Amino acid sequence: MCGIVAAAAGKNIVPVLVEGLKKLEYRGYDSAGLAVIAGNGIERVRSVGRVAELEAASADTQAATGIAHTRWATHGVPCERNAHPHVSGSIAVVHNGIIENYESLRNELTAQGYVFTSDTDTESIAHLVQATLKTEPDLLKAVQIACQRLVGAFAIAVIDHNQPGKVIVAREGSPLLLGVSDSGNYAASDASALLQVTRNMVYLENGDIAELTAAKVRITRLDGTPVQRPVHVSQLSAAAVELGNYQHYMQKEIFEQPEALANTLEIVGGSKTIQPGIFGAEAGNLLADVDAILILACGTSSHSGFTARYWLERIAGVPCNVEIASEYRYRTSVPNPRQLIVAISQSGETADTLAALRHAKSLGQTKTLAICNVPESAIVRECALRFITRAGPEIGVASTKAFTTQLAALFLLTLVAAKVKGRLSEEQEATYIHQLRHLPVAVNKVLELEDEIKAWAQRFADKHHALFLGRGRHYPIAMEGALKLKEISYIHAEAYPAGELKHGPLALVDADMPVISIAPNDQLLDKLKSNLKEVQARGGELYVFADADSEIPESDGVHILRLPEHYGELSPILHVIPLQLLSYHVALVKGTDVDKPRNLAKSVTVE
Ligand code: G6P
Repeated sequence: MCGIVAAAAGKNIVPVLVEGLKKLEYRGYDSAGLAVIAGNGIERVRSVGRVAELEAASADTQAATGIAHTRWATHGVPCERNAHPHVSGSIAVVHNGIIENYESLRNELTAQGYVFTSDTDTESIAHLVQATLKTEPDLLKAVQIACQRLVGAFAIAVIDHNQPGKVIVAREGSPLLLGVSDSGNYAASDASALLQVTRNMVYLENGDIAELTAAKVRITRLDGTPVQRPVHVSQLSAAAVELGNYQHYMQKEIFEQPEALANTLEIVGGSKTIQPGIFGAEAGNLLADVDAILILACGTSSHSGFTARYWLERIAGVPCNVEIASEYRYRTSVPNPRQLIVAISQSGETADTLAALRHAKSLGQTKTLAICNVPESAIVRECALRFITRAGPEIGVASTKAFTTQLAALFLLTLVAAKVKGRLSEEQEATYIHQLRHLPVAVNKVLELEDEIKAWAQRFADKHHALFLGRGRHYPIAMEGALKLKEISYIHAEAYPAGELKHGPLALVDADMPVISIAPNDQLLDKLKSNLKEVQARGGELYVFADADSEIPESDGVHILRLPEHYGELSPILHVIPLQLLSYHVALVKGTDVDKPRNLAKSVTVE
């Protein structure tokens, strides 16, 4: 998704803008650009491709005020003409989001004589602000007035070379925060872009607009009413977003999972019991009245929800449904005010998940819980209860450590729900907590299988399709494995519950179709073995992720990799790790852009 960085300081800010954009690269983008207030007007540099190219192209640019942007194409193909900033006369604008009424604005402004040079919705903002400046010369007020005409979701930053030293930023729906310091003031789509200059962050609310100069920050609502927003000292570690010794963020994040899980589970401490309060002070009362759970999420986060459904129904006995947020938000559903709405999101800003949460609430379902990796995010702010996964910043587009920490959080929710419903004995509780606590060690042992997985990966590189099979709580893990493979290696992959094999996908199986199967030693293993025989009989090549004690022999066309420990209910958390490693290594063999797969974005803040 698009990323914004803006700066007004008493020094050259071009390196800050470029460094900030580099930190936002993980969000996904196809072009980049910056505009600064130079001596004789707006100086703009844009390039298609990586921020490194923009950095080279802007090496001679110097200024104390400027805005910068990474663009993820929505309106108009990726090309320099469509890259931000967009300029109209004296002003330049960068924008994240979608302006829904851009066509009518474009017609109106074209009729007034403004000439559009791009296909973007953003350019209409640039001309609209320029047109407004004719009657309202103060930039802050002109942007306030212009924003009131915009329909849709946006975060914008605007500069005017006739009013140097000033940046105006505004948000309505898309993320934007300020970084404040004695030597300058800044804005960006997320805090990681600004840690290079300050830890003091001010989170703008929807409908806020701010004027930044090197010395001062002034925040008002879009109607001009002044507001104060608190300064938060970001706890984000700058090192957490550095690559260190790793080749890719995805690789780093896969290997950070033991630590991410340990951090996330720290909340349980050394105790043998678990308290509802870990989800918020109100959790005990609220959960006691809950008679069902509805999980809303997108992408990988939805797979953690689909997995948790098996836990919540089996261990806690609570009916649970999982819905893809973009479907739920537009479907006519039957609301249940006693249902707990669980919104799962790594970023906490995914537009569809946020909209689905709001939709659920608008139907009178106010018992809400956010499971999220970003404490200050919109989804967390809008839920009654919260659990913050402590995975640390996740940069790779393909989600890994966010997923396993979500699973840990959802297992804790299962235990709390079971306890509140009187379905968990003290002994069971202590056993589960012990298993949870051992997870970081167990995951570490699975990571040691990397070399074997690397060898398997070589055999996938020339394949065009792959089938992932799982049963029960490992079916969503098969879904996650298939998603990982297609996201970063571009091999078409599908997941099926193994029992469905005969109902269609078996027709596809031949020697060119690798079939990856998750085969833990559980009550479904025997059934799964019969499914695997069906594949073998059709000449299919099987890659089986089994447990140490799953009795599946290696044979011609059947490759077995055994996970060191058999992990019972929590086995999905271990079994997803080799699938993450497999896609990572297949992508390496294929030479794809692992951290920034084509067409995908890390944080999908538009519909
Ligand atoms: C994008 C990302 C995925 C992520 C999904 C949901 O598609 O590429 O990795 O799973 O959004 O994001 P969220 O931040 O809500 O978990």
